[in-house]
Amino acid sequence: MTFLICYYLKMLVLGIETSCDETGVALYDGKNKKIIFECLFSQADKHSLYGGVVPELAARDHTNKFLPLLKKGLNDSNINLKDIDVIAYTKGPGLRGPLMVGAAFAKSLGFALDKPVIPVHHMEAHLLMAKYDAPELCYPFLTLLVSGGHTILAKVEQSGVYKILGQTIDDAVGEAFDKTAKLLGLKYPGGPEIEKMSVRGKNMKDRLPRPILNSNDYNFSFSGLKTAVLYKVNELKREGELSNQLISNICLEFQNAAIDCLLHKTNKALIDFDLKQVVLSGGVAANKELRRRFSTDLHQGCSAIYPDFSHCTDNGTMIAFTGYEKINLPKEDNKISVNPKWSLEEVDNG
Ligand code: KG4
Ligand code: ZN
Repeated sequence: MTFLICYYLKMLVLGIETSCDETGVALYDGKNKKIIFECLFSQADKHSLYGGVVPELAARDHTNKFLPLLKKGLNDSNINLKDIDVIAYTKGPGLRGPLMVGAAFAKSLGFALDKPVIPVHHMEAHLLMAKYDAPELCYPFLTLLVSGGHTILAKVEQSGVYKILGQTIDDAVGEAFDKTAKLLGLKYPGGPEIEKMSVRGKNMKDRLPRPILNSNDYNFSFSGLKTAVLYKVNELKREGELSNQLISNICLEFQNAAIDCLLHKTNKALIDFDLKQVVLSGGVAANKELRRRFSTDLHQGCSAIYPDFSHCTDNGTMIAFTGYEKINLPKEDNKISVNPKWSLEEVDNG
Protein backbone atom coordinates (compact mmCIF):
# COMPACT_ATOMS: atom_id res chain seq x y z
CA MET A 1 0.00 0.00 0.00
CA THR A 2 2.76 2.44 1.01
CA PHE A 3 4.50 1.45 -2.20
CA LEU A 4 1.39 2.24 -4.25
CA ILE A 5 0.95 5.65 -2.60
CA CYS A 6 4.62 6.50 -3.23
CA TYR A 7 4.24 5.38 -6.83
CA TYR A 8 1.38 7.74 -7.55
CA LEU A 9 3.05 10.57 -5.71
CA LYS A 10 5.91 10.60 -8.18
CA MET A 11 6.26 11.88 -11.71
CA LEU A 12 9.58 10.72 -13.09
CA VAL A 13 10.77 12.63 -16.15
CA LEU A 14 13.83 11.39 -18.00
CA GLY A 15 15.81 14.23 -19.59
CA ILE A 16 18.08 13.57 -22.59
CA GLU A 17 20.52 16.26 -23.78
CA THR A 18 22.67 15.70 -26.88
CA SER A 19 22.58 19.03 -28.75
CA CYS A 20 26.36 19.53 -28.82
CA ASP A 21 29.25 17.77 -27.07
CA GLU A 22 27.80 16.81 -23.68
CA THR A 23 25.75 13.66 -23.22
CA GLY A 24 23.38 14.53 -20.39
CA VAL A 25 20.93 12.05 -18.87
CA ALA A 26 18.93 12.93 -15.76
CA LEU A 27 15.82 11.81 -13.92
CA TYR A 28 13.67 14.44 -12.23
CA ASP A 29 10.73 13.79 -9.96
CA GLY A 30 8.43 16.68 -10.87
CA LYS A 31 5.89 16.06 -8.11
CA ASN A 32 8.51 16.14 -5.35
CA LYS A 33 10.74 18.68 -7.13
CA LYS A 34 13.71 16.42 -6.67
CA ILE A 35 16.55 15.34 -8.94
CA ILE A 36 16.83 11.55 -8.72
CA PHE A 37 20.03 11.30 -10.74
CA GLU A 38 22.12 13.43 -13.09
CA CYS A 39 24.72 11.78 -15.33
CA LEU A 40 26.91 13.79 -17.67
CA PHE A 41 29.68 12.91 -20.03
CA SER A 42 31.71 15.70 -21.61
CA GLN A 43 33.43 15.02 -24.92
CA ALA A 44 35.61 18.13 -24.50
CA ASP A 45 38.90 16.17 -24.50
CA LYS A 46 38.01 14.51 -27.79
CA HIS A 47 37.15 17.83 -29.51
CA SER A 48 40.06 19.62 -27.88
CA LEU A 49 42.34 17.90 -30.42
CA TYR A 50 40.53 19.82 -33.18
CA GLY A 51 40.06 23.11 -31.29
CA GLY A 52 36.26 22.88 -31.52
CA VAL A 53 33.33 20.49 -31.81
CA VAL A 54 33.37 18.02 -34.74
CA PRO A 55 29.65 17.23 -35.25
CA GLU A 56 30.13 13.72 -36.67
CA LEU A 57 32.39 12.69 -33.78
CA ALA A 58 29.97 14.22 -31.29
CA ALA A 59 27.05 12.23 -32.73
CA ARG A 60 29.01 8.96 -32.60
CA ASP A 61 30.06 9.56 -29.03
CA HIS A 62 26.49 10.27 -27.89
CA THR A 63 25.56 6.91 -29.42
CA ASN A 64 28.25 5.20 -27.34
CA LYS A 65 27.62 7.01 -24.07
CA PHE A 66 23.84 7.31 -23.77
CA LEU A 67 22.94 3.77 -22.67
CA PRO A 68 25.85 3.35 -20.18
CA LEU A 69 24.92 6.69 -18.58
CA LEU A 70 21.24 5.75 -18.37
CA LYS A 71 22.08 2.34 -16.87
CA LYS A 72 24.41 3.90 -14.30
CA GLY A 73 21.82 6.46 -13.23
CA LEU A 74 19.08 3.85 -12.88
CA ASN A 75 21.31 1.37 -11.02
CA ASP A 76 22.74 3.97 -8.63
CA SER A 77 19.29 5.22 -7.69
CA ASN A 78 17.57 1.81 -7.71
CA ILE A 79 15.02 2.81 -10.31
CA ASN A 80 13.56 0.51 -12.92
CA LEU A 81 13.33 1.68 -16.53
CA LYS A 82 9.59 0.96 -16.39
CA ASP A 83 9.16 3.49 -13.54
CA ILE A 84 9.92 6.39 -15.90
CA ASP A 85 6.68 8.28 -16.61
CA VAL A 86 7.72 10.72 -19.35
CA ILE A 87 10.72 11.18 -21.63
CA ALA A 88 11.94 14.67 -22.53
CA TYR A 89 14.66 15.30 -25.10
CA THR A 90 16.38 18.25 -26.77
CA LYS A 91 14.75 18.72 -30.18
CA GLY A 92 16.78 21.85 -30.98
CA PRO A 93 18.48 24.18 -31.52
CA GLY A 94 21.85 22.47 -31.90
CA LEU A 95 23.88 20.25 -34.22
CA ARG A 96 21.67 18.08 -36.44
CA GLY A 97 23.60 14.78 -36.06
CA PRO A 98 23.96 14.94 -32.27
CA LEU A 99 20.31 16.01 -31.92
CA MET A 100 19.20 13.04 -34.05
CA VAL A 101 20.93 10.62 -31.68
CA GLY A 102 19.07 12.00 -28.64
CA ALA A 103 15.78 12.08 -30.53
CA ALA A 104 16.24 8.47 -31.69
CA PHE A 105 16.90 7.24 -28.13
CA ALA A 106 13.97 9.26 -26.75
CA LYS A 107 11.47 8.04 -29.33
CA SER A 108 12.66 4.42 -29.11
CA LEU A 109 12.34 4.42 -25.32
CA GLY A 110 8.94 6.08 -25.55
CA PHE A 111 7.77 3.46 -28.04
CA ALA A 112 9.19 0.50 -26.10
CA LEU A 113 7.88 1.68 -22.71
CA ASP A 114 4.65 3.14 -24.11
CA LYS A 115 5.39 6.47 -22.44
CA PRO A 116 4.86 10.02 -23.77
CA VAL A 117 7.77 11.94 -25.28
CA ILE A 118 8.15 15.72 -24.92
CA PRO A 119 10.36 17.85 -27.23
CA VAL A 120 12.36 20.53 -25.39
CA HIS A 121 13.93 23.76 -26.68
CA HIS A 122 17.56 23.78 -25.52
CA MET A 123 17.75 27.54 -24.79
CA GLU A 124 14.41 27.58 -22.97
CA ALA A 125 15.77 24.73 -20.85
CA HIS A 126 18.89 26.79 -20.01
CA LEU A 127 16.62 29.62 -18.91
CA LEU A 128 14.19 27.46 -16.91
CA MET A 129 17.05 25.91 -14.94
CA ALA A 130 17.24 29.26 -13.15
CA LYS A 131 13.63 28.73 -12.09
CA TYR A 132 14.64 25.38 -10.59
CA ASP A 133 17.65 26.75 -8.72
CA ALA A 134 16.16 30.19 -7.88
CA PRO A 135 12.35 29.93 -7.94
CA GLU A 136 11.61 33.60 -7.01
CA LEU A 137 11.16 34.82 -10.63
CA CYS A 138 8.39 37.39 -11.36
CA TYR A 139 7.06 37.93 -14.89
CA PRO A 140 7.85 39.86 -16.97
CA PHE A 141 11.63 39.66 -16.74
CA LEU A 142 14.64 39.86 -19.02
CA THR A 143 16.86 36.95 -19.95
CA LEU A 144 20.38 36.90 -21.33
CA LEU A 145 21.23 33.47 -22.73
CA VAL A 146 24.93 33.08 -23.38
CA SER A 147 26.27 29.82 -24.74
CA GLY A 148 28.57 28.38 -27.39
CA GLY A 149 25.90 28.68 -30.07
CA HIS A 150 23.73 31.60 -28.93
CA THR A 151 23.74 35.08 -27.42
CA ILE A 152 20.12 36.09 -26.94
CA LEU A 153 18.56 38.98 -25.04
CA ALA A 154 14.84 38.32 -24.65
CA LYS A 155 11.87 39.56 -22.70
CA VAL A 156 9.97 36.78 -20.94
CA GLU A 157 6.38 38.02 -20.98
CA GLN A 158 4.95 34.99 -19.17
CA SER A 159 5.69 31.28 -18.93
CA GLY A 160 6.79 30.13 -22.40
CA VAL A 161 6.21 33.49 -24.13
CA TYR A 162 9.44 35.06 -25.37
CA LYS A 163 10.13 38.21 -27.33
CA ILE A 164 13.68 38.30 -28.68
CA LEU A 165 15.02 41.86 -28.30
CA GLY A 166 18.47 41.24 -29.69
CA GLN A 167 21.04 38.59 -30.45
CA THR A 168 24.49 38.19 -31.90
CA ILE A 169 24.88 39.23 -35.51
CA ASP A 170 27.92 36.95 -35.95
CA ASP A 171 29.70 34.73 -33.37
CA ALA A 172 28.05 33.69 -30.12
CA VAL A 173 29.92 34.93 -27.05
CA GLY A 174 30.92 31.37 -26.01
CA GLU A 175 32.16 30.75 -29.54
CA ALA A 176 34.28 33.92 -29.26
CA PHE A 177 35.74 32.62 -25.98
CA ASP A 178 36.51 29.28 -27.68
CA LYS A 179 38.06 30.81 -30.81
CA THR A 180 40.10 33.33 -28.82
CA ALA A 181 41.40 30.57 -26.56
CA LYS A 182 42.46 28.61 -29.66
CA LEU A 183 44.34 31.67 -30.98
CA LEU A 184 46.16 31.88 -27.66
CA GLY A 185 47.06 28.18 -27.67
CA LEU A 186 44.63 27.34 -24.86
CA LYS A 187 42.46 24.21 -24.61
CA TYR A 188 38.85 23.72 -25.74
CA PRO A 189 36.42 24.73 -24.29
CA GLY A 190 38.02 28.15 -24.13
CA GLY A 191 35.70 29.91 -21.67
CA PRO A 192 36.96 28.26 -18.48
CA GLU A 193 40.59 28.49 -19.75
CA ILE A 194 40.34 32.22 -20.46
CA GLU A 195 38.69 32.75 -17.09
CA LYS A 196 41.55 30.90 -15.32
CA MET A 197 44.29 32.76 -17.20
CA SER A 198 42.66 36.16 -16.71
CA VAL A 199 43.07 35.93 -12.92
CA ARG A 200 46.81 36.59 -13.29
CA GLY A 201 46.28 39.18 -16.05
CA LYS A 202 47.28 42.84 -15.82
CA ASN A 203 45.53 45.69 -17.65
CA MET A 204 46.92 46.18 -21.17
CA LYS A 205 47.93 49.57 -22.53
CA ASP A 206 45.95 48.96 -25.74
CA ARG A 207 42.30 48.19 -25.22
CA LEU A 208 40.43 45.70 -27.37
CA PRO A 209 37.28 46.95 -29.15
CA ARG A 210 33.77 46.68 -27.69
CA PRO A 211 31.94 46.03 -31.02
CA ILE A 212 28.57 47.77 -31.55
CA LEU A 213 28.49 48.80 -27.89
CA ASN A 214 26.68 52.03 -28.70
CA SER A 215 24.42 50.80 -31.50
CA ASN A 216 20.85 51.78 -30.80
CA ASP A 217 19.61 48.19 -30.51
CA TYR A 218 20.02 45.12 -28.32
CA ASN A 219 22.31 43.15 -30.64
CA PHE A 220 25.83 41.90 -30.05
CA SER A 221 28.86 41.28 -32.24
CA PHE A 222 31.88 39.27 -31.14
CA SER A 223 33.73 38.24 -34.30
CA GLY A 224 35.59 41.59 -34.52
CA LEU A 225 36.73 41.22 -30.93
CA LYS A 226 38.23 37.83 -31.73
CA THR A 227 39.91 39.25 -34.86
CA ALA A 228 41.36 42.10 -32.78
CA VAL A 229 42.94 39.43 -30.53
CA LEU A 230 44.43 37.78 -33.62
CA TYR A 231 46.04 41.07 -34.70
CA LYS A 232 47.31 41.69 -31.16
CA VAL A 233 48.80 38.20 -30.95
CA ASN A 234 50.55 38.63 -34.33
CA GLU A 235 51.93 42.00 -33.24
CA LEU A 236 53.22 40.64 -29.93
CA LYS A 237 54.76 37.60 -31.65
CA ARG A 238 56.68 39.90 -34.00
CA GLU A 239 58.09 41.66 -30.94
CA GLY A 240 59.13 38.48 -29.15
CA GLU A 241 57.75 35.38 -27.47
CA LEU A 242 54.13 35.28 -26.34
CA SER A 243 54.74 34.77 -22.62
CA ASN A 244 52.19 33.40 -20.18
CA GLN A 245 51.90 36.87 -18.67
CA LEU A 246 51.03 38.39 -22.06
CA ILE A 247 48.48 35.63 -22.68
CA SER A 248 46.93 36.33 -19.25
CA ASN A 249 46.77 40.05 -20.03
CA ILE A 250 44.97 39.39 -23.32
CA CYS A 251 42.57 36.98 -21.58
CA LEU A 252 41.72 39.62 -18.99
CA GLU A 253 41.13 42.32 -21.60
CA PHE A 254 39.12 39.98 -23.87
CA GLN A 255 36.92 38.85 -20.97
CA ASN A 256 36.37 42.46 -19.83
CA ALA A 257 35.46 43.52 -23.38
CA ALA A 258 32.97 40.67 -23.82
CA ILE A 259 31.38 41.36 -20.42
CA ASP A 260 31.18 45.12 -21.13
CA CYS A 261 29.15 44.37 -24.29
CA LEU A 262 26.81 41.93 -22.52
CA LEU A 263 26.29 44.24 -19.54
CA HIS A 264 25.76 47.41 -21.58
CA LYS A 265 22.99 45.95 -23.76
CA THR A 266 21.39 44.23 -20.76
CA ASN A 267 21.23 47.55 -18.87
CA LYS A 268 19.82 49.28 -21.95
CA ALA A 269 17.04 46.66 -22.19
CA LEU A 270 16.32 46.78 -18.42
CA ILE A 271 15.88 50.57 -18.64
CA ASP A 272 14.00 50.71 -21.94
CA PHE A 273 11.51 47.97 -20.96
CA ASP A 274 11.34 48.94 -17.28
CA LEU A 275 12.29 45.45 -16.07
CA LYS A 276 13.84 44.64 -12.69
CA GLN A 277 15.20 41.09 -13.06
CA VAL A 278 17.51 39.49 -15.57
CA VAL A 279 18.06 35.74 -15.68
CA LEU A 280 21.44 34.69 -17.05
CA SER A 281 22.07 31.15 -18.20
CA GLY A 282 24.07 29.06 -20.67
CA GLY A 283 27.73 28.06 -20.37
CA VAL A 284 29.15 31.61 -20.27
CA ALA A 285 26.94 32.43 -17.25
CA ALA A 286 29.30 30.16 -15.27
CA ASN A 287 31.95 32.88 -15.58
CA LYS A 288 32.68 34.35 -12.12
CA GLU A 289 33.85 37.74 -13.38
CA LEU A 290 30.67 38.09 -15.42
CA ARG A 291 28.63 37.32 -12.30
CA ARG A 292 30.65 39.83 -10.27
CA ARG A 293 30.14 42.60 -12.85
CA PHE A 294 26.41 41.82 -13.12
CA SER A 295 26.16 42.23 -9.36
CA THR A 296 28.10 45.53 -9.14
CA ASP A 297 27.29 47.30 -12.44
CA LEU A 298 23.70 46.32 -13.16
CA HIS A 299 21.20 49.19 -13.51
CA GLN A 300 20.11 50.47 -10.10
CA GLY A 301 17.35 48.47 -8.42
CA CYS A 302 17.78 45.49 -10.77
CA SER A 303 19.07 42.04 -9.93
CA ALA A 304 20.63 39.15 -11.83
CA ILE A 305 19.58 35.56 -11.24
CA TYR A 306 21.44 32.41 -12.32
CA PRO A 307 21.18 28.65 -12.10
CA ASP A 308 23.85 26.92 -10.00
CA PHE A 309 27.28 26.91 -11.66
CA SER A 310 26.90 23.20 -12.47
CA HIS A 311 23.57 23.84 -14.23
CA CYS A 312 24.77 26.69 -16.49
CA THR A 313 26.55 24.44 -18.97
CA ASP A 314 24.65 21.72 -20.85
CA ASN A 315 23.10 18.99 -18.69
CA GLY A 316 20.24 16.49 -18.72
CA THR A 317 18.51 17.97 -15.66
CA MET A 318 17.53 21.16 -17.51
CA ILE A 319 15.80 19.01 -20.14
CA ALA A 320 13.99 16.86 -17.57
CA PHE A 321 12.91 19.95 -15.58
CA THR A 322 11.63 21.71 -18.72
CA GLY A 323 9.89 18.50 -19.79
CA TYR A 324 7.97 18.53 -16.49
CA GLU A 325 7.07 22.22 -16.95
CA LYS A 326 5.58 21.28 -20.37
CA ILE A 327 3.92 18.08 -19.20
CA ASN A 328 0.39 19.18 -20.13
CA LEU A 329 1.22 20.12 -23.71
CA PRO A 330 0.28 17.76 -26.57
CA LYS A 331 2.76 14.86 -26.85
CA GLU A 332 4.73 14.02 -30.01
CA ASP A 333 4.18 11.02 -32.27
CA ASN A 334 6.87 8.37 -32.85
CA LYS A 335 8.51 10.14 -35.79
CA ILE A 336 12.17 10.95 -35.15
CA SER A 337 12.64 14.61 -36.06
CA VAL A 338 14.78 17.48 -34.82
CA ASN A 339 14.80 21.26 -35.30
CA PRO A 340 18.43 22.52 -35.36
CA LYS A 341 17.38 26.15 -35.93
CA TRP A 342 14.34 26.29 -33.62
CA SER A 343 13.70 29.89 -32.52
CA LEU A 344 12.94 30.67 -28.88
CA GLU A 345 9.92 32.67 -30.06
CA GLU A 346 8.42 29.51 -31.59
CA VAL A 347 8.33 27.28 -28.51
CA ASP A 348 5.03 25.63 -27.73
CA ASN A 349 3.41 27.14 -24.63
CA GLY A 350 -0.01 25.62 -25.06
O1 KG4 B 1 25.58 26.13 -22.77
P1 KG4 B 1 26.83 25.42 -23.16
O2 KG4 B 1 27.35 24.36 -22.24
O3 KG4 B 1 26.68 24.75 -24.57
C1 KG4 B 1 25.98 25.35 -25.61
O4 KG4 B 1 24.72 25.34 -25.59
O5 KG4 B 1 26.69 25.91 -26.49
O6 KG4 B 1 27.94 26.54 -23.38
C2 KG4 B 1 29.22 26.20 -23.78
C3 KG4 B 1 30.00 27.49 -23.92
C4 KG4 B 1 31.39 27.25 -24.48
O7 KG4 B 1 31.61 28.19 -25.51
C5 KG4 B 1 32.29 27.51 -23.29
O8 KG4 B 1 33.56 28.01 -23.64
C6 KG4 B 1 31.50 28.53 -22.51
O9 KG4 B 1 30.17 28.11 -22.65
N1 KG4 B 1 31.87 28.55 -21.09
C7 KG4 B 1 32.40 29.64 -20.48
C8 KG4 B 1 32.68 29.24 -19.15
N2 KG4 B 1 32.27 27.95 -19.00
C9 KG4 B 1 31.79 27.53 -20.20
N3 KG4 B 1 32.69 30.87 -20.94
C10 KG4 B 1 33.24 31.75 -20.09
N4 KG4 B 1 33.54 31.44 -18.80
C11 KG4 B 1 33.27 30.21 -18.30
N5 KG4 B 1 33.57 29.91 -17.03
ZN1 ZN C 1 23.67 24.91 -24.06
